[in-house]
Amino acid sequence: MLGIETSCDETAAAVVRRGSDGGGEILSNVVRSQWEAHRAFGGVVPEIAARAHADCIDDIIQTALDDARLDFSDIDAIAATAGPGLIGGLLVGLTVAKAISHAREIPFVAINHLEAHALTVGLTDALQPPYLLVLVSGGHTQTVLVEDVGSYHRLGITIDDALGEAFDKTAKLLDLGFPGGPAVERAAKTGDAARFSLPRPLVGRAEPHFSFAGLKSAVRRQAQQLAPLTPADVADLCASFEAAVSDSVADRCRRAYGLALEQARTAKQPLPIVLAGGVAANARLKARLSATAADLCTALHVPPVALCGDNGAMVAWAGAEHFSRGTTSRLDAPARARWPLDADAKPILGTGKAGPKA
Ligand code: KG4
Ligand code: ZN
Repeated sequence: MLGIETSCDETAAAVVRRGSDGGGEILSNVVRSQWEAHRAFGGVVPEIAARAHADCIDDIIQTALDDARLDFSDIDAIAATAGPGLIGGLLVGLTVAKAISHAREIPFVAINHLEAHALTVGLTDALQPPYLLVLVSGGHTQTVLVEDVGSYHRLGITIDDALGEAFDKTAKLLDLGFPGGPAVERAAKTGDAARFSLPRPLVGRAEPHFSFAGLKSAVRRQAQQLAPLTPADVADLCASFEAAVSDSVADRCRRAYGLALEQARTAKQPLPIVLAGGVAANARLKARLSATAADLCTALHVPPVALCGDNGAMVAWAGAEHFSRGTTSRLDAPARARWPLDADAKPILGTGKAGPKA
């Protein structure tokens, strides 16, 4: 299975093999980040992203085939991210995948980017559903009961910023550059996480939702009070921010776990917990959730760092999971800026949000 990913600022292609036993193997995985192109703007510029994908997608696909020592005649199906994401970028990957599918007569599978993150542990840990997913990326933050491949029940969602967005904005206000998550984590390494007592958003609330906008504003207020900031101030603010985020996500995860056990159709217990998405690369968050999982007498699964951020292998794997179940897509499958994992999830009342961000 060849997988193509162009939903945000990574152009990626990979070849993955799914064995008849359901196990997976990565034959190649090529990711080109566009950080340099966006750095001057402090964030991803959609038009620049789309053009950068178009410039290099052919090369990336060819490199993925070369690295796997294969050519198109060896590929049994092709998968591409169709959403959610930036529409210009999605159209690049999707159109190339459809063209290859048509020209080479290879079946095509349109993939939901969130599902690709959700299923990565099938490839890396041979972990199959059911499990509780804690998805933390640049555009999405939610807890989902993954009942099966294709069956998702959303439990909690952010009522304002996504967690990755909060890391990116915090990095920006502390002048740490872009992308923010890795920069905050680097700075936090030498920091004192106990120096600032930042809010732990929504901790103790019954609904398992998330909120990070207030936390980011609290960091801004502290930074303004301290200005000019020394490197030690920045390190302490980053460490305190990571600690607050980790406490909040751990509490929300614990709440979602209770709901997942109530709602799961399966009697499988303990239910494994999966942390996925770009922010799952964060060591402090991983350690915190690992302790929470241990407390709940279950295991935490996190993909290796290289497969937490956007990549083609996760798209190829999601494609392989669907293809092995006989699912393919038509060549008129649309690119979708929004595409919730759980189409039946109820809007969140009382937050001013009409529904999920996806
Ligand atoms: O999943 P992803 O690569 O793209 C989306 O689908 O959004 O996630 C990107 C996000 C960015 O906000 C980035 O700052 C964050 O993941 N991120 C991190 C770390 N590495 C990436 N956040 C915290 N700590 C990290 N080490
Ligand atoms: Zn992603």
